[in-house]
Amino acid sequence: MNAKVDVNLVVNGVSHSRSVEPRMLLSDFLRHELGLTGTHVGCEHGVCGACTVLLDGRSARSCLTLAVQADGLQIETIEGQGSREQLGRIQTAFRDHHGLQCGFCTPGFVMTIADMLQHHPLENDEQIREALSGNICRCTGYQHIVNAVRELAKERGPLP
Ligand code: FES
Ligand code: FES
Repeated sequence: MNAKVDVNLVVNGVSHSRSVEPRMLLSDFLRHELGLTGTHVGCEHGVCGACTVLLDGRSARSCLTLAVQADGLQIETIEGQGSREQLGRIQTAFRDHHGLQCGFCTPGFVMTIADMLQHHPLENDEQIREALSGNICRCTGYQHIVNAVRELAKERGPLP
């Protein structure tokens, strides 16, 4: 059995220290150690994007990342994007444009979009679809998600 390793992860601005097995996935750490079950797990091998979180501001698959690899990093999850009472702006755009159906994929899309709005040109639908191409929606509601991102990109203005 592997010896446990101490990690400290800052998740949505809150510091968490734990001793974990070196093989523990970040997705399992978030869901089982911290109870942050908004990060969903679909394919578990990096294809569907449901488990996307931000690591130091860039989107990453938490099912392909070990918790020990995230030691000392700033992690953002869907729980940091807003609340039931006060939706964040990406969530608001999804609501306004009917960008979710069953919602299983939605946390991953929201986190991918949080990265895209900071780092990607989103000047037309082709660029938006390309930026979203790493996330799969089994309900195939892509057009509404594209509509939501188009509005967010318009509000964003030019990239820094
Ligand atoms: Fe991580 Fe599908 S669960 S990419
Ligand atoms: Fe159902 Fe995307 S809304 S998988």
